[in-house]
Amino acid sequence: MREDIEPIIFAIETSCDETAVAILKGKNKLLSNLIYSQIEDHKIFGGVVPEIAARKHVEILYKLSMTAFEEANIEPEDLDCVAVSYGPGLIGSLLIGSSFAKGMSLSLNKPLIGINHLIGHIYANFLEFPDLKPPFLTLLVSGGHTMIIMVKDYFDFEIIGETLDDAAGEAFDKVARILDLGYPGGPSIEELSRKAKTTYNFPKPLYNKGFDFSFSGLKTSVLYFVKDHPEANKADIAASFQESIIDTLVHKTTKFALKENIKDVVIAGGVAANSLLRSKMDNFKDQLNIYYPRLSLCTDNAAMIARAAYEKYIRKMFDDLDMDIIPNLGLTKV
Ligand code: KG4
Ligand code: ZN
Repeated sequence: MREDIEPIIFAIETSCDETAVAILKGKNKLLSNLIYSQIEDHKIFGGVVPEIAARKHVEILYKLSMTAFEEANIEPEDLDCVAVSYGPGLIGSLLIGSSFAKGMSLSLNKPLIGINHLIGHIYANFLEFPDLKPPFLTLLVSGGHTMIIMVKDYFDFEIIGETLDDAAGEAFDKVARILDLGYPGGPSIEELSRKAKTTYNFPKPLYNKGFDFSFSGLKTSVLYFVKDHPEANKADIAASFQESIIDTLVHKTTKFALKENIKDVVIAGGVAANSLLRSKMDNFKDQLNIYYPRLSLCTDNAAMIARAAYEKYIRKMFDDLDMDIIPNLGLTKV
């Protein structure tokens, strides 16, 4: 394994509704990091429309890539490899990114590296904290996943707990829809909650199901509450829901870390952008080292894909041009 080299990595992220590319030199010199958010294209539908997402990736990806080369001031020939998210995500969206990456890899004669999007989210923390190293515990909370993961080594993961139904981000998005707030739900619930009180008691599934999570009951209780109490304050409902879900995430993660005497705890994924989650994790700072990346590295981006690809590049973990996408990829495959 060569840690003394500084490969230039071009990374593509198109697993959902963000079209993103990044150029990374070595471990953490980001020469370019561009994101085209499709939120405006999907907003009127109240959620991501897979067909529109895929077509938008086709429209944006080439232009965004050319802008990245300009910004990084390098030529495509200067690259050492091309990396792309190969799952989990939407089929059409993943196919656009991986086909584009394969075309680049073939025409430039540079190795191809497929990256598990979930590992990308975790590795976003390495960009922010160059001294962070496994082993550490991760709370991965995104639109599709909610997991407590023991990162034993760079490509050795043990799932300690996961959601049995809705993911945390999904619960935020569904409750936002119940409350008639905008898409995506997480940021709109957080924003509305700022001026509100946590007056209402929604269930906090803290103690059952071990280290697994279940948020569908919480979502349903918000739904029935809204139906039964049309006069209730919307902002207070949002804040009370947010308090319940965040308390559950924080409780289970910190409980496991303290029980197992794990000092380093990392949060990752779109919901890690939530400031209540960050501040409630920070309450444990006298007992645990808490890490989370800057907001733009929490939600989907290609810098995290590039950083994960660096770890594969130095281990020569390359992929063939017949690499398939895996829409329901878990953490069983790196
Ligand atoms: O990681 P991500 O960008 O995409 C996936 O891989 O799923 O996560 C998106 C999810 C959405 O469900 C969104 O509502 C949620 O992250 N999210 C938030 C916040 N920002 C994004 N949830 C709570 N608070 C936020 N500030
Ligand atoms: Zn993601």
